[in-house]
Amino acid sequence: MSQYEMQSIHQESEFLQNAWYVVAQSGQIDSRLQSIKILGNNLVFYRDSQQKVVALEDACPHRKLPLSMGKLVGDAVQCGYHGLTFDASGKCINAPTQDKVPSNAIVRSYPTVEKYKLVWIWMGDPEKVDPSKILELDNYDDPNWGLTDGGMLECQCHYLYLLDNLLDPSHVAWVHKSSFASAGTEDVPLIIEDTLSGVLVSRWIQDIEPPPYYADMLPFKGKVDRLQHYEASMPSIAINMGTYVPTGLGGDNANLPKDSYRMRSYHFITPIDAHSSRYHWFQHYNTNIYDEVVRQKLNEGALSAFEEDRIVLEAVDIGMNQKRSSNLDLQLDIGSKKFRKKLNALIKIEKADALC
Ligand code: FES
Ligand SMILES: [Fe+2]
Repeated sequence: MSQYEMQSIHQESEFLQNAWYVVAQSGQIDSRLQSIKILGNNLVFYRDSQQKVVALEDACPHRKLPLSMGKLVGDAVQCGYHGLTFDASGKCINAPTQDKVPSNAIVRSYPTVEKYKLVWIWMGDPEKVDPSKILELDNYDDPNWGLTDGGMLECQCHYLYLLDNLLDPSHVAWVHKSSFASAGTEDVPLIIEDTLSGVLVSRWIQDIEPPPYYADMLPFKGKVDRLQHYEASMPSIAINMGTYVPTGLGGDNANLPKDSYRMRSYHFITPIDAHSSRYHWFQHYNTNIYDEVVRQKLNEGALSAFEEDRIVLEAVDIGMNQKRSSNLDLQLDIGSKKFRKKLNALIKIEKADALC
């Protein structure tokens, strides 16, 4: 992919529509009207009396006042200007100023699903909705794995800069010096592979001091072999796996010992629009899983590291938008360029299908 193509993708404000995106942690949506923008669309969210998450276009069809400025009447939303009222399917059920409900008084409703304590939304063709297409996380209900509460950041950057970053194991050497960095993170060669749903970038780094974030959580002392596994899945989910074993026991074909330390970070990136993103995450880990102090430490450590990413990526977004000279690509960009190319191909197919 040329620099021009890379730039043109950055400028792109089109998104894959027929896909599931994370809107919020389940606890963030309640019975109050809440306006959230997803893929450039203003939506209003609330829980109905059955606790089902409702998502509607956040614009009354009369004068486009956001419905989020109205109020809930039972399970329906009443516009705050002249009282048009819409049920959870988006159908107008009351028009106080009219003899009868206008047939074109309707707002679009969007399918939602709750999974992994996250609210997911389908923004594309309603006839293609399939909840089984939400990524399966094999450890999610496994009692042998700990789970952090996770968190959310709103980032003022294009969502693909977040994906680039999550397919780039090298940046930890500079951005996360006090947490994820270790010897070798800046220069050990990367292995790039295609996967069915995206791209995997990985490498074993051998015989190093463990990075500060993990040092006192490992179930063994001394130097380690470290696997960095950075994987991204369409449209915008990243899985980072860290594996640590005592020095000499790691490697691609090694039979890893039972006390290997394993950490999985799941990252769910959702475009708000072309310049801002919602970033949700949580982590799975296989050691000290009942220790609340460890769980909190992992959660707080992740938040502070992802804040470091946010600061860099927001400045990158500004820098790329205001550049006065061309930018270049490095070898470390190969994984993210592959991912962007695959995603762009899917978007093109989707657009072509929509024209048929
Ligand atoms: S703007 Fe909503 S009823 Fe008039
Ligand atoms: Fe990072």
